[in-house]
Amino acid sequence: MCGIIGCVAEEPVAGILLEGLRRVEYRGYDSAGMATISGGRLGVKKGAGRVSEIEGRHRMSSMLGSTGMAHTRWATHGGVTDANAHPHASCRETVAVIHNGIIENYIPLRKALRAKGHRFKSETDTEVIAHIVEDEYKRLGDPLKSTLAAVKKLKGQYAIAVLFQDRPDVMTGARKDAPLIVGVGKGMTFLASDVLAFIGYTDRTIFLDNYEVVEITKDSVRIVGLDGKKVKREPNQVAWELSDVSKSDYAHYTLKEINEQPRTVVSAAVQDQEKLEEFAQAVRKAKSLYITASGTSYHAGLLMKFRLNKEAKLRADVVVAGELKEHTEFLGKGSVVVALSQSGETADVMEAVKEAKKHGAKVYSIVNAAGSTLARESDGVLLLNCGPEVGVAATKSFTAQVVVANLVVDAVLGRKHPNGLAELSDAVAQALKCEGQVQELVRQYRDRPDFYFVARGYESPVAMEGALKLKELSYIHAEGMPASELKHGTLALIEKGTPVVVINPSGPIHAESLSNAEELKARGADVIGISDENDEVYRHYIHVPRVQPKFAPIVEAIPLQLLAYHMSVARRNDPDYPRNLAKSVTVK
Ligand code: AGP
Repeated sequence: MCGIIGCVAEEPVAGILLEGLRRVEYRGYDSAGMATISGGRLGVKKGAGRVSEIEGRHRMSSMLGSTGMAHTRWATHGGVTDANAHPHASCRETVAVIHNGIIENYIPLRKALRAKGHRFKSETDTEVIAHIVEDEYKRLGDPLKSTLAAVKKLKGQYAIAVLFQDRPDVMTGARKDAPLIVGVGKGMTFLASDVLAFIGYTDRTIFLDNYEVVEITKDSVRIVGLDGKKVKREPNQVAWELSDVSKSDYAHYTLKEINEQPRTVVSAAVQDQEKLEEFAQAVRKAKSLYITASGTSYHAGLLMKFRLNKEAKLRADVVVAGELKEHTEFLGKGSVVVALSQSGETADVMEAVKEAKKHGAKVYSIVNAAGSTLARESDGVLLLNCGPEVGVAATKSFTAQVVVANLVVDAVLGRKHPNGLAELSDAVAQALKCEGQVQELVRQYRDRPDFYFVARGYESPVAMEGALKLKELSYIHAEGMPASELKHGTLALIEKGTPVVVINPSGPIHAESLSNAEELKARGADVIGISDENDEVYRHYIHVPRVQPKFAPIVEAIPLQLLAYHMSVARRNDPDYPRNLAKSVTVK
């Protein structure tokens, strides 16, 4: 869950690296660092803190050299300290490495290296790689071969980039279970963990596969497999543009992404009809059907299951991705696993996919990042088409997932042409107008220690999503659950003034949810109703437009996202980079 950017160019790279580093900072923001080669010397500047702090302290942007790499860290092994920040250099400081992932066998490797006289400067698992490459480079004298020899000794997950002091013309890299992408520009070549890192310079990309090792120069790319045999791969063009990754006039990416939704709910519905039909056929014919995902994507999966059960009369198990391996009794040949993921890189999701394949199941995915590991390893893929999502909190990707999941269910039901999208877009735009009301709620409840979110039926996952958003952005304790569950325990926690959000669209479950709202009010709760229909039980009411029931979670999610965002700002958090989290969770 770290961000990697490396560049070999004809021109100084420090500015390019810093720009790229800021764009991958969403992947981890505990520490940052940069290494370049200039005048035959490998220089490293790094430290604990956000990219802007390290730049302020060390002026990374002033580093000289036309070959360099940079890293943002999300700590796994070793605390958040200056010494543990990447890049890590070898003993003689002739080799430097940046890494995303976990080296599982670093303890025996470190022991063996120490016995050979290597001295370690950090507590990280990563540092062993620098020392191993140094040894192999001494033995083999070739950057690509020594990187290949080094990664053969590693167990675990890695995407790495390596610099060699006496070879300022090259950089090497390797990947296993963590993303590493080559960017092929004019007179410059990149290695990065996300296309966003170099999108301003090139949109021509090569996605490396597991067990591949690469050597880049400013105008060449050489890829080999673990057997050392050459791999031929042409660059592909990616659809994302630089404008997609700027904040425009918004204070934060999160707010920009929330406000993009009137457009992204429509773009998500633009799908290749053949691929959609193939996906639907697979779902329809599955001997057993699983839906798997993590976090927000899991909530979208729950919504998908609801309609598959109720309308398509198909049975589906929705399992949190990190738990799928414990639920494999009905997984086998003929099974289908539908995986949802914004990033397409979540380690838990990839592990679930591995498990599914091991049992002979087919995997169909709904993903935002084209070219991501999940997209490439699936038997069928539908993309979210909502553009890059930089804010750590999933917002527009959630509503896009709901749109695409609905398309799949509609196709399963034989309804081919999506309708009502223009109305949905207008409804989302209308829902966004509640921002002022939400800010008023924030003023009133910003110091409350707890928040609850409840709903019934199809909207229950929306309640869970509202709680997740508030937790991760505001750090307020929040719980989301079916309203029917309140009386089985949670009511004991309700006291005078406890804010409880009741998501309650008009329709068959409306009256029952109102009864729950009454029960809450009777126990002192301040009930906040989110609905297309007001009721006197609500102390506060946020109106959302009436839409087709299958789209209701989309408009209901808008005030919940705004609540989490403004609560975060009011509590002086950084909504784009909430503490302890990272956008792409590539560790298990
Ligand atoms: C959402 O706001 C969270 N940041 C998180 O729960 C996220 O949805 C989860 O980590 C799954 O990510 P993915 O969709 O990229 O697989």
